[in-house]
Amino acid sequence: MTRLALICLLCIPFLASAAEREPFDDRYCTTCHGTDGRGNEGVQAPRLAGMEPWYLKRQLENYRDGVRGAHPDDIEGLAMQPMAAGLTDESIQDIIEWAGGWNYVPAEHTISGDLDAGRALYQPCATCHGANAEGNEALGAPALAGQNDWYMVTQLRNFLAGYRGVHPRDVYGAQMRVMTTGLNGENDINNVVAYINSLSD
Ligand code: HEC
Ligand code: HEC
Repeated sequence: MTRLALICLLCIPFLASAAEREPFDDRYCTTCHGTDGRGNEGVQAPRLAGMEPWYLKRQLENYRDGVRGAHPDDIEGLAMQPMAAGLTDESIQDIIEWAGGWNYVPAEHTISGDLDAGRALYQPCATCHGANAEGNEALGAPALAGQNDWYMVTQLRNFLAGYRGVHPRDVYGAQMRVMTTGLNGENDINNVVAYINSLSD
């Protein structure tokens, strides 16, 4: 089965039940994001465990409000967007408290690349994401260390292609999108992500 077909199949029951959901019955996330939010490559849903609460909140609000996951070619974003569409501010807070109990476990590495090239490419990224990819709340840049590498590859492609970070209200996404213009093609993307992987070894 193709990845897209799998994602769509998983969506159907959630779409059907979205209308009658209770405010605090929003804990279906692990179906796609894996046990304890550890990520699930099969449906391209990234690790949520250990994610900063401010970043989790912003992404849920952005999906809910159609600021993220609205581009017709953003396949994975389109799978996630309806999952957040019915969330209230109260249920987002509830999810943040629930997800806060999941332990940070660095994701397994699935891609490799040229680490020296990746280190050089990562230098401008460190300004916002930190030298160890630990993130920086003041700049709104999330931690990247320990995140699923396949997910980071998709996001970098999506920023570059203009599938993410183009909505007029996506202030942080736009800042990030500008930064991807320094990445030329798949090799650069793989190399920089391979270097980010090395920071969580
Ligand atoms: C049908 C499967 C599915 C379900 C159910 C689901 N998600 Fe997702 N989620 C995804 C996919 C796929 C992505 C990747 C989207 C992308 O690539 O832009 C994603 C992305 C995210 C992101 C962005 C992560 C980041 O690093 O920016 C957050 C946050 C998130 N989901 C939270 C949740 C929460 C909380 C729930 C439960 C209320 C939930 N998801 C339910 C499939 C799902
Ligand atoms: C000007 C500050 C800044 C710089 C420099 C920067 N980023 Fe970002 N990055 C951000 C912000 C802010 C976000 C969050 C965007 C959002 O809220 O949607 C982000 C998001 C990301 C994401 C998506 C994370 C997720 O969980 O979805 C990846 C991957 C990423 N950056 C990689 C990089 C790489 C690689 C570089 C260097 C080529 C880089 N960033 C340079 C600010 C920056």
